[in-house]
Amino acid sequence: MAGRLNIIRTHITGVGGYLPERVMTNKDLESIVDTDDAWIFERTGIRERHIIADGQHTSDLAAAAARQALEDAGLSVDDLDALIVATTTPDMIFPSTATIVQSKLGASGFPAWDIQAVCSGFVYGLAQADAMIRAGMFHRVLLIGAESMSRIMDWTDRSTCVLFGDGAGAVILEARDASEDGHGGVIGSVLKADGSYRPLLMARHPHPGASPDMPDMAVDAAGVAAVEMQGNEVFRNAVNKLGEVVGDVLAHCSMQPAEVDWLIPHQANIRIILATAKKLKLDAGHIAITVEKHANTSAASVPLALNSYYREGRIRKGQVLLLEAFGAGFVWGANLVRWSKD
Ligand code: ACO
Repeated sequence: MAGRLNIIRTHITGVGGYLPERVMTNKDLESIVDTDDAWIFERTGIRERHIIADGQHTSDLAAAAARQALEDAGLSVDDLDALIVATTTPDMIFPSTATIVQSKLGASGFPAWDIQAVCSGFVYGLAQADAMIRAGMFHRVLLIGAESMSRIMDWTDRSTCVLFGDGAGAVILEARDASEDGHGGVIGSVLKADGSYRPLLMARHPHPGASPDMPDMAVDAAGVAAVEMQGNEVFRNAVNKLGEVVGDVLAHCSMQPAEVDWLIPHQANIRIILATAKKLKLDAGHIAITVEKHANTSAASVPLALNSYYREGRIRKGQVLLLEAFGAGFVWGANLVRWSKD
């Protein structure tokens, strides 16, 4: 007789976050570029951002967020089976930031790797880890989104340097038998990419020895790769593509917009966030908004928003969360999660 078929689901059992100590307000930016608080706040919803300290690295932010997530889950680093860091600002080209974080957490042995999906890194990472857990490959995965975006800014370009910030967010993902835990956990994900849009948003990568004739090797005056963006084109695409993908993930999971309790969006611009919420007919009381205090922390923004609202006790067991993000490439995507933590 055939044995009982176990259905595995991926649950978020720990959440953590870390923001560097230094806060840079819009007012502070007025002495760096020709801008003002009113312009930045009206166009983006941002008032301030955190900036990484000299000598601190993306891996330090990631490790701090990871420690808080492990503590929240009641686990030690030795309980993990895998560690994934989503980042577009790694400590170095190699080794991966994930291996550096593993070492800083005092662990070794289990696999550790980075994923690069820019601002969609956490949403991509959650889909990837969920698939690996449900396939039975891992039981417990630490997924971190961590960025030091301030290190890849052109601080003379007012159209980009006012938009970003630094930080890290982390979750512990654990396998549970669906028969023990009802319908909780990750419900499903939809991921998308279209590289034909890449000229609209990028940070080009210099390397010593690159041919000066190669157009892709251009860098800013300081010799560091810096973010270049055609803001209004990115804005228009983000609104359209996020509006589509939130519908796609609901259809994929056979769910309705009215079943969503919380939108946990990528925090790039309040106007993009509100446009997506409008599509779902969600009012302000159902949207996690941290862009005012964090700015755009790329792969860290979704887990940092999740961490803030979780720690404020606003996310309740049984509620449905819709996570979404959009980034350079373009890459975008969404996950649906039924919250199963107390
Ligand atoms: N302060 C004052 N004025 C400014 C600033 C600034 N910081 N930046 C630009 N301006 C000026 C421009 O020079 C322009 O002046 P002009 O009309 O004299 O030429 C004017 O403001 C309007 O500029 P726009 O770029 O048209 O302004 P817009 O309303 O589009 O807002 C913004 C710009 C906020 C960047 C918006 O386009 C946006 O949010 N885009 C999406 C950005 C985004 O989400 N990026 C991240 C997604 S992907 C990722 O996360 C990596």
